[in-house]
Parts: sequence; C-alpha cells; structure tokens
Amino acid sequence: MGYLFGLVGYPARDSKSPWIHEQFLKKQGEQGAYRIFETSPDALQDKLQALKMVEVDGFNVTVPYKEEIIPYLDEVDSYASSVGAVNTVHVQDGKWIGYNTDGKGYVRSLLEEYSDTNLKKTQVLILGAGGAARGIYRALAEAGAPVIDIANRTASRGEALRKLRCGSTDSSVLSLEEAEEDLSHYDLIVQTTSVGMTPNESGQIISLRNVKPNAIVSDIVYKPFETSLLKEAKNRGARVLNGHGMLIYQAALAFEQWTETFVEANDIVTKFEQQLK
Ligand code: ATR
Repeated sequence: MGYLFGLVGYPARDSKSPWIHEQFLKKQGEQGAYRIFETSPDALQDKLQALKMVEVDGFNVTVPYKEEIIPYLDEVDSYASSVGAVNTVHVQDGKWIGYNTDGKGYVRSLLEEYSDTNLKKTQVLILGAGGAARGIYRALAEAGAPVIDIANRTASRGEALRKLRCGSTDSSVLSLEEAEEDLSHYDLIVQTTSVGMTPNESGQIISLRNVKPNAIVSDIVYKPFETSLLKEAKNRGARVLNGHGMLIYQAALAFEQWTETFVEANDIVTKFEQQLK
C-alpha cells in the first residue's frame, strides 16, 4: 500500500513537489506516491470533500489556498495559526491538522549551509512583507534573533508583519531606501519578494552597496539559479544563500511530519540543483 501524499493548489501541475517527495520516499526506503490535486478556486470545496473520502496521509497546500484552507481543517498548530497560513496538512486519526513549514524550512536551510550561524546574535533585515515573509519572520523570531527589521514597499504591510513579534525580538519598519542606506547594520538579509524572479531577472529590490563584508544575503527566489541580488552580494564579498534549500527543506519538514521520521536532505538539494543547471 504505502503512503499517499499530494498537493492542493492552482496552478499546480508544474510543481517540483512530486519529484522532491519521491526522492524522500526512495531515500527513506518507504513505499508511497505524491499526487497533484490541482483545484480551480470554484472547485475547492468539492475537491476537499472528495479528498476526505480518499485515504490520504497528508498533503501540501500552495497558492492560492494557504489561508483559504484554514476553515476546512479540524485543528491548526499554534505556529501556523500565528502565521495565518498553512502549507502542510497531516491526516491523523481522520482529523485534518494544519502546519506551516515554509519559514522553518528557510531557517533549516540557512543553518545547514552556514552551521556557524548563531541566530541569537544575528541582526536580520527582511525585504518584503507578504506571505513568505510572515513565515520566515516568525521562524527567525522563534529561533531567537534579537533584531528583525522589515523593509517593504508598502509601510502598512510592514507594520502588520511587525505585529508577529514574539519573545525579545525587536523590530522596526523601514522603507526600501532606508534599508539600502543602513544595510551595514545587518548580518543576515532575507529577500522574500518575487522581484528578480524569472522572467524578470534584471529586477533587484535594493542595491547592496552598503552590505557588511561576511554578511549572509539570501534570496528565496529559486529561478533563476542565481538572482541579480545574489550576484551582487558575491561580488561584494558577502556570503549567499539561494532559495533551493528552502524549497527542499519546507518539503522535508512536511515529510517528517507525515512519516514521523528525520530526513537529512542536503543530497536532495544538490541533486535538485544539478537538474536546474
Ligand atoms: P508572497 O506570499 O509570495 O510573499 P505576496 O503576499 O503577494 O506574495 O507579497 C509580495 C511581497 O513582494 C510584498 O512585500 C510586496 O510589496 P507590497 O507589500 O508593497 O506589495 C513585494 N513586492 C512585489 N513586487 C514588488 C516590487 N516590484 N517592488 C517591491 N516590492 C514588491
């Protein structure tokens, strides 16, 4: 029999998730399949009802349903609930329980790549304040980052994100111009918007002229292979992190939730990158 996993989203047919989860199944020696349940917005309710009839063990949720799925769930864990979005559903004893692994996947990919990072001493700047930024903000705050400033084109969205503050994390909202000026204050810069993504590869959200040498500049965009922001970061002597690790580790954390096993996924990141090249 084996596991049955899947993905609810729209559009979803070009998703990398089936490939990624098939790698995990193989690596962990588990039987199973990962299917795409592509669902147009007018069919969401019917599709979810149909899914309740199927022996599915868990599924991922992607755009545009990460918020819309919540009323259909029996429970939402406290982390996903604070982020306000669910990307992973685990079916446990017939109950649908919602989790969010996006931000935690980012943090895990960061620590896998730069294991000497002490987040409790890291001054962070997040560029953007959308859904992706929310998950990353919360995960970095929970990991103990003392400062997480937010720079966004629209200040009100930055302010809304700042409300996710927890523990002793301190946060200010900046304009993109201010962020550019003050860049030398930060040890970790996290670009979370779609600026620079294929097919608009020349886009770059800010200049890095003031970046601190040895800072980590990360971009969650995973196509192109290296965004213009990361190219500039490298040229200025900063360390870089692309979005491939986050993509693989958010999936690994979902797989771990569903199968209650631990997945070491660095080899899958490497294999994924070989395919992209
Ligand atoms: P996601 O869920 O992928 O994060 P989103 O919720 O639509 O997507 O958020 C997109 C983010 O990218 C926002 O921070 C948005 O800025 P605004 O809040 O000002 O809209 C940012 N963004 C998108 N295009 C941008 C651009 N051309 N320049 C600057 N910021 C941009």
